[in-house]
Amino acid sequence: MKVAQAGLTTTHNATRVKTTTRNWRVSGYRGGLLVVEFARGAVDLLNLCVEGGSLGLLRRDDVDRIVFDAYDGEPEYYDPDSYSPAFEIEEAALAENLRQLAPGTRLLDAFCGQGREARLLAAQGFEVTGIDRLPVMIERARKYGKAAGFDAEFTVAEFERYEAAAPYDVVYTSAWMYSTLQGRECRMNFLRHCRALCAEDGVIVISYKVRSTTRHWPDRLRHIIARTIALLTCGNRGVELGDRLYYGLFWHHFAEFTLDQEIAEAGLRSLSTHNVNDGKLVFRVLGAAAND
Ligand SMILES: C[S@@+](CC[C@H](N)C(=O)[O-])C[C@H]1O[C@@H](n2cnc3c(N)ncnc32)[C@H](O)[C@@H]1O
Repeated sequence: MKVAQAGLTTTHNATRVKTTTRNWRVSGYRGGLLVVEFARGAVDLLNLCVEGGSLGLLRRDDVDRIVFDAYDGEPEYYDPDSYSPAFEIEEAALAENLRQLAPGTRLLDAFCGQGREARLLAAQGFEVTGIDRLPVMIERARKYGKAAGFDAEFTVAEFERYEAAAPYDVVYTSAWMYSTLQGRECRMNFLRHCRALCAEDGVIVISYKVRSTTRHWPDRLRHIIARTIALLTCGNRGVELGDRLYYGLFWHHFAEFTLDQEIAEAGLRSLSTHNVNDGKLVFRVLGAAAND
């Protein structure tokens, strides 16, 4: 039986969970919360209620801590020798495309993890600087760079506080990361920071998950539950339609028009859009808005 989701928080790596014949089980304790797993099928509605409740109950700081622990606790999950998403081939095509769009070769690989994308980008001739806030990721990225035989500089840094000696021709933010930011204000700060790090004629790559355009009710119901619980518990009153909590991580699933507004408000415009993984994940290449 495939384990799909979890309760108060979720397991980071669902594939590692042992199969079980029960509908749910308490599988651990993380960041002060019990981790409860549910089996797919029997309890979809229960999953939805628990996820909505968690989104309302947990404040943003709590979620940040859970996410930090999720990455820090399982660095081996991102080992490029054992982990390569099905859409990596599409990421490689995007890297090739970027070479045509970028005015030069200086590239910031933000949220680089253990250097999986750095290899694809270096293969296109970019001079890659990879940053990640976790020392364990950077240590592993350096080893991976040596073993796989590509050149890149890896540095421990928090993206939001990172300052560069010179602007980058490309600011590449890793798969999904735009969807992992909690709330509009945080996303706007993120876009502005990308801009500050990027040359005037440079390009920025962001990527995100898309909300279903055909099946609205689960998102709406989850959101109503989250808002209600937030009000009752003085929890996360900033919870947004499209917010999700699964695999131990926070996600915002976007309606495309929301994203268009945020991009325009940050003084940027879309140069190209790349739907990957059957359209469930989207990369956008952004440049400065023409009249900005
Ligand atoms: C989903 S992993 C991606 C790893 C890698 N890009 C890949 O695809 O294999 C996200 C990485 O971003 C890092 N990260 C998360 N928030 C960060 C932040 N604010 N500043 C720097 N790194 C961050 C995490 O430590 C983690 O290694």
